[in-house]
Amino acid sequence: MTGDKHPVQRLLFTVHRPPMSKKRYLVTAALPYANGPLHIGHLAGAYLPADIFVRYLRLMGKDVVFVCGSDEHGAAITVKARKEDTTPRAVVDKYHAMLRDTFEKIGISFDIYHRTTEPIHHQTSQDFFRKLNENQEFLEETTEQYYDETVGQFLADRYIVGTCPVCANPEAYGDQCEKCGSTLSPNDLVSPRSMLSGSVPVKRPTKHWFLRLDQHEAWLREWINTGVADGKQLHNPRDWKTHVIGQCNSWLDQGLQPRAMTRDLDWGVDVPQEIPGSEGKKLYVWLDAPIGYISATKQWALDHGKDWETYWKSEDSALIHFIGKDNIVFHCLIFPAILKAHGGFVLPENVPANQFLNLEGRKLSTSKNWAVWVHEYCEEFAGQEDVLRYNMIKKMPEQSDSEFTWKGFQETNNNELVNNLANFVNRVLVLSHKYYGGVVPRIDPDITFNSGWETATTGQYNDELRLLHNKLQEMGAAIERYELREALRILMEISSAGNALLQFNEPWKTVKEAPEMVKVVMNLAIQYVAVLSVAARPFIPFSSDKLRKMLNLNPLQDNGDLLEALNELVEGNPVVPPQHALNAPEHLFSRIPDEVIEQQIAKLGGTVDGTGLTVDGASQQASPGKEAGSPVPPTEYRPMAETIQFDDFAKLDLRTGTILTAEKMEKSKKLLKLSVDLGFETRTILSGIAEHFTPEQVVGQQVVIVANLAPRVMMGIESQGMILMADNPEGKLSFVSPAAAWPNGMGVK
Ligand code: 2FM
Ligand code: ZN
Repeated sequence: MTGDKHPVQRLLFTVHRPPMSKKRYLVTAALPYANGPLHIGHLAGAYLPADIFVRYLRLMGKDVVFVCGSDEHGAAITVKARKEDTTPRAVVDKYHAMLRDTFEKIGISFDIYHRTTEPIHHQTSQDFFRKLNENQEFLEETTEQYYDETVGQFLADRYIVGTCPVCANPEAYGDQCEKCGSTLSPNDLVSPRSMLSGSVPVKRPTKHWFLRLDQHEAWLREWINTGVADGKQLHNPRDWKTHVIGQCNSWLDQGLQPRAMTRDLDWGVDVPQEIPGSEGKKLYVWLDAPIGYISATKQWALDHGKDWETYWKSEDSALIHFIGKDNIVFHCLIFPAILKAHGGFVLPENVPANQFLNLEGRKLSTSKNWAVWVHEYCEEFAGQEDVLRYNMIKKMPEQSDSEFTWKGFQETNNNELVNNLANFVNRVLVLSHKYYGGVVPRIDPDITFNSGWETATTGQYNDELRLLHNKLQEMGAAIERYELREALRILMEISSAGNALLQFNEPWKTVKEAPEMVKVVMNLAIQYVAVLSVAARPFIPFSSDKLRKMLNLNPLQDNGDLLEALNELVEGNPVVPPQHALNAPEHLFSRIPDEVIEQQIAKLGGTVDGTGLTVDGASQQASPGKEAGSPVPPTEYRPMAETIQFDDFAKLDLRTGTILTAEKMEKSKKLLKLSVDLGFETRTILSGIAEHFTPEQVVGQQVVIVANLAPRVMMGIESQGMILMADNPEGKLSFVSPAAAWPNGMGVK
């Protein structure tokens, strides 16, 4: 043992903590339009940061409700329905289900995922409208709007195209030019035409209700820039991101104008019937959508016997909106104005909007299919959801736009998740089983060792636990500042220090000569893994579950688990007691090979089918059946793999077995869930053969399995081996099995 600096003193620090003193938290994530699947830009922009924040609050024992849901109104939906030649209802039903399932698969832990077509939402939005009307917040004005005489309807901004006055793009929309990004109004367009019929629209008078945003400008300016509203300091503006405040000020500086809160549409929330002139009028989608946060909270409260109003109306409640930067003005100016105009509601404590994520050097684009679709990822990388989450956090566009690349994804996985985290956990578990039969050793805490935090410094057990406490606090403070990339970096520092602890003390060399010291080191390393099982939860929750299982610790309750750990660690106490029995190590992360990455890169920009889903190259090729008489192409043999030594081969434990049962895995096209009799035991194996065989075809089939392959969890189920299959150039599969009926569990050499 060398060095004389005291590590606790070395790493103690004070951090600025923004006030997290509110009694309860209502956290929202932008309601996605139910008109298409979720891509990684959405995930990194709003949903993942919100999920991390909420999971952290739960671990700190805070009262928090996390609401979201599908935004099912507006032109975004009706335009899609026209494109798919179906009804708005069919569009929202399809994409709502898809979004809800995708969020669940990628581990976004909403307390409720609601929808704006629910009656409770229509009622809540109409009540809001009534109240604003009563409070004389609206100007009723008749203006001239574009009308398509061929189809007999007023045209929503999105239904008018024309030439952009800024960049001369002939395909600019009535609300925005997608080429130059200018915000437009239909009157700005040169040579407007209707998207519905192609005809030239005419102007017709129509009455609408305009929210008098001009009258809210002064207080909004003060509140955004000082955090003060109605003479009360509601938040510290230094806790808000500068780009958020900047965007608000640029709107405020142009002067807020009255904004129409109604539309002439046939899909949306009706303007309340009793209001004169309401016929045929719907609420503007940006009026009803944010009220969706309130109706979702109401539904959650009804479902759980809670009071929704305490979350929205008490001064000791904090409202936090997670969004992407294109939604800033709606959440920081318009919705706060609506809440204030209604009266009785809290204002958002923070709106930590993210910027945009780009993909492989280009902007994400749904229409060009330049995207990574989360539902496809979950299908193709089943069991590796945390790898995407981890990568998204690393690349989170917190302060400026950022970029996702598949190569970066692979490198991050292989270098950080496999080489650092999985390697550390595996070493700790394997060595604990080897030295102590999987039981946490009793120790003498006065025996010193090499600290993992810095070379050549001495570690002392209780001090090292206090250091862990400090690191966790540092990580929590970063989350509270919405600096999630930094928080993840700190989490991984703990794993790196754990690896260094093993490296600097080399238990595999010292266990004989200094067994008591090695006990302290291994006990401490187990504490590191246990701390990681809690602290990793906001970021990589599926792995947190696996770690708890390996450690044979109770599943986390999401109700103060981190706080409890902090309370022990600050006293220098362990979080796993001596004599606690650990479970066997399980697979955490595995290397992602080049081929997988190349396939993903090749998929980018592929065509999109009528369902809005991508069609990969393979399914667009002609069917495998050959035309009669066409020449048989020469067989293409796969290149030989690298030569291995006999010892490498001998490591494989291949066994005969028989498939006893087979069933399709829900939500997976590729996987069948099999139970395979190995004679001495029955294994559950997930096999990617569902596109080749029906369950009935494979029951009773004799197979050869790789019996000593580390188990792997896919779609929540542990697969305990792999079935050997032969393939052919057309991609067909055939079982490999003994030529004669053979007993199960026999070796294959
Ligand atoms: O931009 C969007 O995708 C909108 N559907 C976000 C709505 S957020 C909230 F206000 F509901
Ligand atoms: Zn333009």
